[in-house]
Amino acid sequence: MYLVTGATGHVGGPVARQLHEQGHSVRALVRDPSRAAGLSAGIELAAGDLDDPESVAKAVTGAEAIFLMHAGTGTGQTTTMIAAAQDAAVPRIVLLSSAGARLLPLDANPMGAAFAAREQLLRESGLGVTCLRPDAFASNAFAWRDSIRAGKVTDPTGDGVLAVIDPEDIARVAVAALTDGGHAGKGYLLTGPQALTAREQAVTIAEVTGRPVDFRDVTPHEFAQAAIQQGTQPGQAQLMERVYEVYRARRSVNITDDVENITGTAPATFRDWCERHADAFR
Ligand SMILES: NC(=O)c1ccc[n+]([C@@H]2O[C@H](COP(=O)([O-])OP(=O)(O)OC[C@H]3O[C@@H](n4cnc5c(N)ncnc54)[C@H](OP(=O)(O)O)[C@@H]3O)[C@@H](O)[C@H]2O)c1
Repeated sequence: MYLVTGATGHVGGPVARQLHEQGHSVRALVRDPSRAAGLSAGIELAAGDLDDPESVAKAVTGAEAIFLMHAGTGTGQTTTMIAAAQDAAVPRIVLLSSAGARLLPLDANPMGAAFAAREQLLRESGLGVTCLRPDAFASNAFAWRDSIRAGKVTDPTGDGVLAVIDPEDIARVAVAALTDGGHAGKGYLLTGPQALTAREQAVTIAEVTGRPVDFRDVTPHEFAQAAIQQGTQPGQAQLMERVYEVYRARRSVNITDDVENITGTAPATFRDWCERHADAFR
């Protein structure tokens, strides 16, 4: 049995589904089973919370390997999972980390620093650990859903490019790493096949959906100030401002062939992802 966290999310959902489709036994740790109605009937649900060590300890019992999507800030949920896995003698954890864990300088990218700290804790745990470090998810474009419908997208990343990856491809690598112990001790930088600016992504969505989009470039500072006015906590907005500055400075892109090397199939393009999800933007 494989334990999957974040199973109602963009990556954990496909991880649980793909494992189940391949005939593996799957248990999903979910905070609210009523929100997990989209999961296949054959997937066992374990009600629990990554911030509740007792529920995590129960959920890991009998697992062959764990897919860990650390949902909170800091390192607490990873520490909880390591302790539970050690107590239950679960040998392997596959961590959904981030390309940001390797994006230097880490102190200009505090979210990346948190991922790096979680990876370090896992390495020190003695468990068989695989770190998946994806670039930006194609599903981040869902944040533009209302803007696309309104025909106007505002973005702070300028000429910065991201090697956007389809969450289904991250899940395919996760499934390989969960089911084949040969990936323990490895870290993979997971990217889509192309480096795209936000403008190029918006144009792709416009072409696929047939809805014209007016794209407006703003600075990271202007974007953060607007977010604060709309209710984002100032600390969170400042954090995002620094991350956008890194992207805007074109500090972030690498294209790797890890997805194809591990799964035997090339990763999907952003256009492929848009074609599968076009209705969400109409
Ligand atoms: N977006 C990107 O571009 C990007 C790039 C690299 C790495 N990442 C990392 O990928 C992860 C996000 O993955 P995703 O997009 O698949 O997530 P997502 O779609 O935002 O889903 C979050 C999942 O976490 C669960 N969750 C939240 N708090 C929880 C808790 N306290 N205990 C147990 N489960 C909890 C949610 O379950 P409920 O149903 O209970 O809400 C949901 O299943 C983050 O760690 C992020 O930093 C993202």
